Amino acid sequence: MAFPPSFIDELTARNPIEDVVGQYVTLKRSGANLFGLCPFHGEKTPSFSVAPDKGIYYCFGCHKGGGVINFMMEIEGLSYPDAVRALAKRVGMEVPEDEQYQSRYRQQERLWALSKEAARFFNRQLYLPPGAQGLAYAQKRGMPKSTLIRFGIGFAPNSWTSLCDAMREKGYTDQELKDSGLASVSQKNGRIYDRFRNRLMFPIIDVRGNVIGFGGRVMDDSKPKYLNSPETIIFNKRKNLFALNLAKKSKLDYLILVEGYMDAVALHQYGFDCAVASLGTALTEEHAALLSRYTENVVLIYDGDQAGQDATRRAIPMLERAGLQVKVLQMRDAKDPDEFLKKFGADRFRILLEESSNRVEYQLRAIAKKYDLHVDEDRVRFISEAAEFVSSLGNAVQREVYGTRAAEAAGISYEAMKIEVEKAYRRRLGREKKKQEKIDLSPAQKLQPKSRSIRYDNMKSAMAEEGIISMVLREPALLDEAQSLKPETFSSPLLGKVFSQLRERFSEGLEISVSGLADLEPEEMSHVAGILQRQRGPVSEQAFRDCVATVQAENQSSHIETVEDLMEFRNKMKERKGIRE
Ligand code: GTP
Ligand code: MN
Repeated sequence: MAFPPSFIDELTARNPIEDVVGQYVTLKRSGANLFGLCPFHGEKTPSFSVAPDKGIYYCFGCHKGGGVINFMMEIEGLSYPDAVRALAKRVGMEVPEDEQYQSRYRQQERLWALSKEAARFFNRQLYLPPGAQGLAYAQKRGMPKSTLIRFGIGFAPNSWTSLCDAMREKGYTDQELKDSGLASVSQKNGRIYDRFRNRLMFPIIDVRGNVIGFGGRVMDDSKPKYLNSPETIIFNKRKNLFALNLAKKSKLDYLILVEGYMDAVALHQYGFDCAVASLGTALTEEHAALLSRYTENVVLIYDGDQAGQDATRRAIPMLERAGLQVKVLQMRDAKDPDEFLKKFGADRFRILLEESSNRVEYQLRAIAKKYDLHVDEDRVRFISEAAEFVSSLGNAVQREVYGTRAAEAAGISYEAMKIEVEKAYRRRLGREKKKQEKIDLSPAQKLQPKSRSIRYDNMKSAMAEEGIISMVLREPALLDEAQSLKPETFSSPLLGKVFSQLRERFSEGLEISVSGLADLEPEEMSHVAGILQRQRGPVSEQAFRDCVATVQAENQSSHIETVEDLMEFRNKMKERKGIRE
């Protein structure tokens, strides 16, 4: 579907990229650009750039880039029209709607509204006769009314139709009930029935305050213990965390990540209002990126069992790649935070929190656990693995501190450990140097676009084409100079397409900008943004003409197949030179 170009131009003009990006990323100015930590991949040093004058963002690390609309699509996981809509809403612009799009957006809004109604329904049941059991269970689990209210906890009655009936009465259709995941379809008669029955209900609310799904717990030992909403057009488990809507407002400067809904609820209840829980799935890159929008510090508390340890080991690098400082709290004397808090209270838990180790200590201890340090053979293996790990630490102080720890654990002198660490460190440097050499030796490889669909066949021509695009975007008047240049002459179909669109916009008096480009895949858009951000050369008519000449010459030579072609080409080149001199 297409919005009118003039509308898109106004939309992008009224949503300066630095303002929109600035809502998600802390940006610092450096010359004409702003830099920050990339929200799309984990990093510790900023390689994410925003160029307000060009209206683009580009990450030199993960090569994502584009205009303000692409940014909204990428960061909020929206489709193109939804991103346009969000930006329009941001500045109070009216969107010229297309029916199909309108209907999908309306569908989403209907499901949000339906889910909110359902949450209200479940919550009301707690205080009605069918919910007495639910309320009793909540009380047994130590949840006071204030907690039930804060989390909007409710109860799904032991009935096949009570929710469906109540929602139909509010005007929701069977289709909507199915789409929301609140109803299932009977195999036998095709009728719908309540998915959640006889369960304590935890609404899952996104950071914008929309109810997007539910987790429902049984009140005894039957299985499954938890039933969650299925994935729907409003519910994505990979991208959302339970209680983040509350935790994002916490005054504490860290977030606690736990496994269970009950754990998150209990933590909030005991004053740790910065707790969030994953939705019964393993932690994803998206979760890590989401967390990093609200904090720099995460405390991981997974269960003490093997599964919890494995999950911890996988989660640490993921969180670190998102630029987060990770601490790991080892549960002791209870199976999870909920149980611990109820047994020992908030003060004892605070001590655990203070003792929680950073991830280096945690990993060193995890290595030590693998070996029996009273056995010499094991000690040798421990020393070598620990040395390898310590050598991977980023700075010398860390290597010394943790090298000492490892030496103590192994019962050897720090000097002996240091020699091992240094050996491992040199091996590592050697490996990295080799890797770097490989990259440096193939500069052409480096300039190749990442994606196959936009690979360059003729590198020389493509570099000149990049120059043309880059200069035209900075100085549109150059398009006057390029009357004779045909898009088909470009060796790169993508760059030819971009050129032709820019020229068309120019002739129609429209804005010449990356945001104005239509029909480009996200990675094509990223590629164009990358061209613009990398190109540092000055804009000059001479440089522009040189690029045009190169593209034309390369195009000609690529068509030389016969002697006649060659003669014609030589003559043309002579002619051209004659004109220039
Ligand atoms: P309580 O036993 O009530 O204290 O639950 P908990 O919050 O401590 O949860 P637990 O540690 O048992 O499980 C952690 C999380 O895994 C839960 O919050 C759910 O998100 C998920 N989970 C647990 N059991 C099931 C299940 O049977 N099915 C599904 N889909 N998810 C589950
Ligand atoms: Mn529990």
